[in-house]
Amino acid sequence: MFKFFKGKNNKLKTASIDIDFNNVPKHIAIIMDGNGRWAKERNLPRTMGHKAGVETIRRIIKECDKLGVKYLTLYAFSTENWKRPKDEVSALMKLLVEYLKKEFDELNRSNVVINNIGDISKLPLECQKELKAAYEKTKHNTGITMNLALNYGGRDEILNAVNGIIKDVKDSKLDINKIDESVFSNYLFTKGMPDPDLIIRPSGEQRISNFLLWQCAYSEFWYSNINWPDFSEQDLHKAIYDFQNRDRRFGGIKK
Ligand code: IPE
Ligand code: IPE
Ligand code: MG
Repeated sequence: MFKFFKGKNNKLKTASIDIDFNNVPKHIAIIMDGNGRWAKERNLPRTMGHKAGVETIRRIIKECDKLGVKYLTLYAFSTENWKRPKDEVSALMKLLVEYLKKEFDELNRSNVVINNIGDISKLPLECQKELKAAYEKTKHNTGITMNLALNYGGRDEILNAVNGIIKDVKDSKLDINKIDESVFSNYLFTKGMPDPDLIIRPSGEQRISNFLLWQCAYSEFWYSNINWPDFSEQDLHKAIYDFQNRDRRFGGIKK
């Protein structure tokens, strides 16, 4: 286990990383990539990579919680991932159910809200059932919110929002002249949540792959060559440290 302690001035001390506890990203989103390559490097089937990736989820959620992150969004299955071989897709769905069953008690004890984003109505019924039950049982928890992005696509989410808006305008629930950014955001899966401050993508790819397209307008990006199963608490600290040393101007000028 990677150890850290709180040093002077409310800073988190790691080997050589000082994390400022007063400036921890409120919302971190991670594109959990590189499971397949991790397995290939070890001559293992891709599914073993996904299994190893689940272990990383367990460690990283704990660490984010410890650090005071309020929302952790994990990209687990995209709207494009259906293109993969049937066997891989069903193995992923099976892993999801196993994960929820196995981890539920500990996550709940740790006060985690187990939420999901994406169109889960296309997932196998058992997955839907587990996801809904996990959310219902944890929705009043007050700790970190874990958003599992499943059958999630940024474009799909935006289209879904547009359709929701059209419906509400037709039903006279929404005034057509009152549609601004904040109203629009309320039709997204991330309704009520802050936009991600930091988006992390391991595995060496430097693309967004249809993730949080609306919400990433001013997110800071952090890439690493490490495959997701090898992503450590220390890598998370590095990403946060980098984030804390950036100048976020939001279109303004430096103070
Ligand atoms: C990410 O790992 C997991 C999912 C997309 C479900 P990949 O399976 O994409 O791993 P690589 O990119 O092939 O290494
Ligand atoms: C993005 O990874 C989706 C998830 C991690 C769930 P992919 O491996 O599917 O993305 P591409 O194909 O490399 O862009
Ligand atoms: Mg990939």
